[in-house]
Amino acid sequence: MVASKVQSEIMTPLGIDIGGSGIKGAPVNLATGELLTERERIVTPSPSRPDAVASVILELVAKFPQAKGCVGITFPGVIKNGRTLTAANMDAGWIDFEAATLFTARLGRPVAVLNDADAAGIAEMRYGAGRGIRGTVLMLTLGTGIGSALFLDGKLLPNTELGHMEVRGKEAEERASGRVRDEKNLNWKDWGQRVGEVVACYAALLSPDLIIIGGGVSSKGDKFLPVVQEMAKTPVVAAQLQNHAGIVGAALFASQTLT
Ligand code: BGC
Repeated sequence: MVASKVQSEIMTPLGIDIGGSGIKGAPVNLATGELLTERERIVTPSPSRPDAVASVILELVAKFPQAKGCVGITFPGVIKNGRTLTAANMDAGWIDFEAATLFTARLGRPVAVLNDADAAGIAEMRYGAGRGIRGTVLMLTLGTGIGSALFLDGKLLPNTELGHMEVRGKEAEERASGRVRDEKNLNWKDWGQRVGEVVACYAALLSPDLIIIGGGVSSKGDKFLPVVQEMAKTPVVAAQLQNHAGIVGAALFASQTLT
């Protein structure tokens, strides 16, 4: 009993979710997809340079001394082999940067890095709204930007970056992200129609069988998802892991790729 408890503490992975406004983390129970403790959040440093962000992550990790396993870290940009290639809503110092190498050196333990929406999608497909769903599933996160994760029969095609697709002459995330709703003080109906227009373009491109909408707004799905579904002519559901999906997906990805 004691031995297995010690063993599970040693193996417990941590998920860290880097966002434009906050960096969040928690240890994750991979058997259930639940957080093992309350998540911790620290405001994203400004400017959000790699060293400053790595220091915040170090601080976050120190809050969970019981979780000694590998660490999965999400980043809002294209990631290839631990390297951050783009940074639309973060400091330009991340562009073409060896992020995993920096984090591994600063934390002194194995680290895997992946796109934030891909992480949220992985978690929803395993534990949430996409569980057991075959065919084409598109997960979207509506926050500071629009993130996308595309799955075929449960397998991820990473780095799709649909938030930067042009819709009627403008980047999708400039039309319909959660940030745009706040900045323009849009009501749910008006913003829902903006999301619907964008999602209808994605649906025309990909003919998905299911669209999952995540991000902070997913808890308010009843206020805008019906109009989105009508415009996209595709089943649209709210994510189930809500704000935790990125953390859970990061931990899952790290444990799959590092162990
Ligand atoms: C970034 C994506 C990210 C999305 C959501 C976009 O601006 O380019 O990589 O997934 O925001 O954070």
